[in-house]
Amino acid sequence: MRPALLGRIDREVDAHYHARNAFLGLRIMAFPMTQRPEGSRSEDTAVRSWLFIVAGLVFAMIVVGGATRLTDSGLSITEWLPILGAIPPLSDVDWQVAFEKYKAIPEYSIVNAGMSLSEFKYIYWWEWAHRFLGRFIGVAFAIPFLGFWIAGMLRPGFAWKCLGVFVLGGLQGFIGWYMVKSGLVDRVDVSQYRLAVHLLIAFAILGLLIWLALDLAPDTKSPRLQTVSLLHRRVPLVLVVLVFVQSGLGALVAGLKAGLTYNTWPLMDGKVIPSGLGTMSPWFLNVFENVTTVQFNHRVMAYAIGVLAIWHLLALACTADDERVVMSAALFTFVVLSQMALGIWMLLAHVPLWLGLVHQAGAAILVATCILHLYRMRRSATRA
Ligand code: HEM
Repeated sequence: MRPALLGRIDREVDAHYHARNAFLGLRIMAFPMTQRPEGSRSEDTAVRSWLFIVAGLVFAMIVVGGATRLTDSGLSITEWLPILGAIPPLSDVDWQVAFEKYKAIPEYSIVNAGMSLSEFKYIYWWEWAHRFLGRFIGVAFAIPFLGFWIAGMLRPGFAWKCLGVFVLGGLQGFIGWYMVKSGLVDRVDVSQYRLAVHLLIAFAILGLLIWLALDLAPDTKSPRLQTVSLLHRRVPLVLVVLVFVQSGLGALVAGLKAGLTYNTWPLMDGKVIPSGLGTMSPWFLNVFENVTTVQFNHRVMAYAIGVLAIWHLLALACTADDERVVMSAALFTFVVLSQMALGIWMLLAHVPLWLGLVHQAGAAILVATCILHLYRMRRSATRA
């Protein structure tokens, strides 16, 4: 078909849907699952911008979550009130009540005995901000989503994908509380397992939002990857999996405070392979609970990802006939190497707050870049 004819059809489809939305407003209200076929670009741009904004908020949430953990604030609010909890203590009496509840948990008596009210307020505000941002993201997702859905601005099947992400967000709120609960009795920190699940779900939400937003991009150019080997077409998915595994390992390091042991690099305890790697029984417990093994695994996985990223980039640079995938591979490699450098610096500096935060934010950026690279390779592969 000639381009002029295609353009005319496109404009007519657009005009048809705008006219229908204007004249059948009432009908759309009565039948909210109206969906629009692919091709109407202005709606896609609006939905896409909204998804990127929510992804930005999730990124901020990950950083505030990191600050909450690194300032040891996570256990300061000892109850879970999904709606009423949005209101912080407003009077001196309210603050005293919240403080008394905190004094009843082991973290207060073992770690923070004698803490003043103003010190308590500091940790309370971090946790409150983390939870408040979570609620805010829920609203910033749900209201525009309903609006787009009711107005018939979503592509066929897209609403269900968005709903899936929304459900995952709700689950994340629950897991967050489940994690906090693990630190309220018998221990002074949350379980490293629950911390890892909480962080991985946050990264999964971020990755899905970015994927969905990318998927609404107008097709400016049809990518080609015929010259790239099948092996390298598969590497991006492997990288995504490894980045998630590495993030889980990082959360175990953080949860066990394993970053405060072996503060040397490249050796651990003067050795490449430190002793004490497999002292727990059964053996698999070492992977999750042995401070030495957990830190060792986090290091080795970082090297593996770094080597794979460089090899993949070189292969694409030599064989790919589409510069966009080379650019996304280069971006990913740059972020991996920066993240490794940050991790080493943080370890040598005994995990200062700001470096811990930058490392956590770096991991979220890495998730975003590996999703971008996977997306470009996938779209290239399927549309070649
Ligand atoms: C691909 C590279 C890497 C990724 C994606 C990554 C990711 C992560 C993540 C997600 C966390 C958890 C943060 C949290 O829950 O607050 C973490 C923690 C940590 N990582 Fe990495 N990391 C990488 C490389 C490294 C390297 C090379 C080192 C040092 C040799 C390192 C040292 C640490 C330490 C010490 C912690 C614990 C920080 C704390 O206690 O807050 N990381 N990492």
